[in-house]
Amino acid sequence: MRLFSDSIGRKVLMAVTGLLMVLFVVGHLLGNLTIFAGPNGINSYAEHLHSLAPLVWGTRLVMGAAVLIHLFLSIQITMENSAAKPEKYARANYLRATIGSRTMIWTGVIMAIFIGYHLVQFTFRPGFTIGADALNRPDVFAMVVAGLGRTLVALVYVVAMVSLALHLSHGIQSAFQTLGLANPRWLPRFSGTAKVAAGIFLVGFGAIPVAILVGILTK
Ligand code: HEM
Repeated sequence: MRLFSDSIGRKVLMAVTGLLMVLFVVGHLLGNLTIFAGPNGINSYAEHLHSLAPLVWGTRLVMGAAVLIHLFLSIQITMENSAAKPEKYARANYLRATIGSRTMIWTGVIMAIFIGYHLVQFTFRPGFTIGADALNRPDVFAMVVAGLGRTLVALVYVVAMVSLALHLSHGIQSAFQTLGLANPRWLPRFSGTAKVAAGIFLVGFGAIPVAILVGILTK
């Protein structure tokens, strides 16, 4: 199986890189939820995380590669499909099309743009340096509350979280199907799990901009 040229190989790579990103998103959600424990919660979480430099940099390298491969293959497959050569799934598609499956390309584009914006905002932070809290730790709480405190930015986050949920509501079950882990008996279970996971991501991540907008999380 030639991974980048063979149609099944490419779908396997899409599935594996997609599932790796889901793992990252699960960890990121758990970390982000510490914001509801107040400044001390998320600031001590962030300080602890950054003290584990090999873990942080290992994750950055693997995730960076996964995002680039996933993006490259999605563009390649979409261009080929629009040149009127429909590709078959690695396994038969047992389910009817859903809103998640029909909007994969658009929710994917929105997520790619969001991740770029999000990295500039919170990781590269051009033009400003993060402040320190009372314990002299990087004040991630203040950065997030200020960053998402503007209505337009909070709305951008809400739209991105809806896109993420739609993308994963189809993507997770599609990945299991591609990897041959779903037969007609198991597919509905994977499909249900994907939808529940998407709902958890939507509510968990979405709660943060909403809580900031309505003043539950405030500096
Ligand atoms: C309400 C939603 C979100 C909030 C409040 C949030 C917050 C943050 C913060 C504060 C950082 C910087 C962490 C630090 O340097 O200590 C960060 C980094 C990052 N976030 Fe998010 N995030 C959210 C959603 C997402 C989503 C949905 C994704 C991906 C699908 C994502 C991907 C990333 C990535 C790739 C990084 C860079 C990690 C690194 O520096 O190595 N975030 N996020």
